[in-house]
Amino acid sequence: MTSPAMAGKVVAVRDLQVAYAEDAPPVLDGVTLAVDRGDVTCIVGGSGCGKSTLLKAIIGLVPPRAGLVQLLGESLYELAEDNRDSLLQRVGVMFQYGAMLGSLTVGENVGLALQMHTSAEPGLVQDVVDAWLERVGLAGSANRMPSELSGGMRKRAALARAMALEPEILFCDEPGAGLDPITAAGIDRLLLTLNERQATTLIVVTHELLSIERLDGRLVMLDGGRVIYDGTAQEARVAARSDLELFFHPR
Ligand SMILES: Nc1ncnc2c1ncn2[C@@H]1O[C@H](COP(=O)(O)OP(=O)(O)OP(=O)(O)O)[C@@H](O)[C@H]1O
Ligand SMILES: [Mg+2]
Repeated sequence: MTSPAMAGKVVAVRDLQVAYAEDAPPVLDGVTLAVDRGDVTCIVGGSGCGKSTLLKAIIGLVPPRAGLVQLLGESLYELAEDNRDSLLQRVGVMFQYGAMLGSLTVGENVGLALQMHTSAEPGLVQDVVDAWLERVGLAGSANRMPSELSGGMRKRAALARAMALEPEILFCDEPGAGLDPITAAGIDRLLLTLNERQATTLIVVTHELLSIERLDGRLVMLDGGRVIYDGTAQEARVAARSDLELFFHPR
């Protein structure tokens, strides 16, 4: 059932519980979160607290043990497979480790979703691929293999792939991790440009303080399987709370 608080949200999660095995303790244990269209949200928390798990539950990859997941107004796990697939085409994902298909060229990776889910002619697919590669600073890399790219280039290619179908929501799991500060800042700038120019809703898992500052949106902190802070990043920074203090000023 949709409560008034969940209506009109692009993502709405209520009392979400996720466990990876029947007898395992839940990784997420009562997460409630709702995201408005066009917003920028950073999800933070210690390593292993369940950030990637939360993203995966929201995009249909990890079925919840209990609770509700609504994506673009639909109850994701209650949809028939076909309907779920078409819903997920409205969402882009940049996974934590890039996840490019190694046997396809960079261009084929970026164009894969277009080729699979639209009736676009090959020439048009090529044009869209080239345009996105150019936007992420990888013009001319379409014919290279992912293994020939540096870590930062692979992340930017993954971003181009996530954006190729012009998703309404873009999920990014640690977009800057393992990158030099300049490349990481460049990725954040690109994300903000997408948010501003295309109104793409951004949901970004990150532990980089600089990135949180640059993205300057809402901050959601997870701990112990729950949301322990949900507010603006600016307020979090000055809040008189020892857990937030420790996050912003680790000793
Ligand atoms: N496929 C899986 N099978 C079993 N356990 C898993 C699986 N994926 C994650 N876990 C466990 O779930 C917990 C949360 O993992 P998750 O990857 O969501 O953490 P995270 O917050 O993204 O961490 P990091 O910041 O290191 O990426 C961890 O204890 C992890 O071992
Ligand atoms: Mg993770």
